[in-house]
Amino acid sequence: MGKYVLGVDLGTSAVKVSALDHSGQIVAQESFGYDLIQKRPGYNEQNPEDWVSGTTVAIVRLILTDHLAAEDIEGVSFSGQMHGLVLLDEDKKILRPAILWNDTRTTPQRQEIMDKMGDEFIDITRNQPLEGFTLTKLLWVKENEPDIWKKAKYFVLPKDYVRYRMTGNLAMDYSDATGTVLLDVAKGQWSQRICDVFDIPMSMCPPLIKSIDFAGTVTPAYAEFSGLTTATKVFGGAADNAAGAVGAGILQPNMVMSSIGTSGVVLKYEDNADVNYHGVLQFEDHAIPDKFYSMGVTLAAGYSLSWFKKTFAPAEDFNDVVASAEKSTVGANGLLYTPYIVGERAPYADANIRGSFTGIDGIHQRHDFVRAVLEGIIFSFRDLFDIYEENGGDFDTVVSIGGGAKSPLWLQIQADIFNRKVVSLKNEQGPGMGAAMMAATGLGWFDSLQDCAKTFVHFGKEYRPIPENVKKYKKLHDIYKQVYGQTKQISAELLDFRRENMK
Ligand code: XUL
Repeated sequence: MGKYVLGVDLGTSAVKVSALDHSGQIVAQESFGYDLIQKRPGYNEQNPEDWVSGTTVAIVRLILTDHLAAEDIEGVSFSGQMHGLVLLDEDKKILRPAILWNDTRTTPQRQEIMDKMGDEFIDITRNQPLEGFTLTKLLWVKENEPDIWKKAKYFVLPKDYVRYRMTGNLAMDYSDATGTVLLDVAKGQWSQRICDVFDIPMSMCPPLIKSIDFAGTVTPAYAEFSGLTTATKVFGGAADNAAGAVGAGILQPNMVMSSIGTSGVVLKYEDNADVNYHGVLQFEDHAIPDKFYSMGVTLAAGYSLSWFKKTFAPAEDFNDVVASAEKSTVGANGLLYTPYIVGERAPYADANIRGSFTGIDGIHQRHDFVRAVLEGIIFSFRDLFDIYEENGGDFDTVVSIGGGAKSPLWLQIQADIFNRKVVSLKNEQGPGMGAAMMAATGLGWFDSLQDCAKTFVHFGKEYRPIPENVKKYKKLHDIYKQVYGQTKQISAELLDFRRENMK
């Protein structure tokens, strides 16, 4: 009988648990969904108990339905939705529902942090204190729920809570710790200075561990609950973006990931913490010990395309609509799209900017609009590549995952706009694969995550930049970059108009 590792991908809408063997093959996969609690606009909460039950149901199904022998499950590790605040009392009992990464109630706390610390905060944490990050949520509870705050003795992030329930040990891995914006990133320690300024006891911050560190074995109670044995070893795990990067093979300095889901992520491996993007890009600890990654988010990447299709081609097949862009040309016959249809995060942290089609001409047909949308999303990624180039970032390979990897045309557009080699993955599995790789490495099946990737991660076809297209896209991107500045004021005024006149 083979031996397995489990990768637990604890997402925002569901948990997916994958069992992989020594060769990196997925032998079984089970998932379980849970709800968001949205009590008021901008509020997004979840009950941590739902994460524990969902994960446990998935594990029980792997054992009972997929017939994995519990004694063959050697290790477990995690990929977790980032930033969510789980507050615990002195007995490590949950004090209130978790406040999630996509909860936006904390704008006043974001402002308060900048007013009190300004650039010093960004220098310590390498990040802006965005609404989504954990510190703003801690301050919100402190200011708005003093009775709960009085009882709060510890905080952890979502996957850390599930790990705690499996092992009985409280800990947080470095990649998720960066996302709290309470970590001094260069020192690799909780920041005494930030805790002092905001009057947060250091004792609330859990012990730090590495993603591949052993975090404990399954407790007898959890063994009974899940069907696992107490011999199963549990490892640290990582933030979902770090785990996604591991699963996509972003494990050395020459690699960048381009991911198109509803939102889009450009993520770059960083060998050290010397570079400072001053908070324009997020900067986080990687799952690889003592390594880092930076990332920028385009809020409406895949969402731009699904919005376009739903609005202008509701009855047609999604793939046919995307493929119709072939009928257009490089540069969509002079039509430009900016994907700011729900505001933007990077490089412009601007909630009021909105999207645009510029240069609409009587000759344009629908396929030109589709092409402009595909190109506009990648131009927005290219803005982030420009930041890397300005900072001396040296990389030659882009790994495309998500929607952008499903269309040969979109892969070629990426190669031409990025002016880099673009590859997709043969068996794309998302962050759950990265989580399983952390367990496999932690167990000693492999010497390092890089070593594990040689067996677990396989790249597919390569797309090389076509010099003629590169030149055209360079010219167009220079024009594209002007659109933000020229539409900022107009967008803000239109948004005011909408707020005043909305039915
Ligand atoms: C990253 C972020 C999201 C969450 C999704 O900063 O907020 O990507 O990690 O789970």
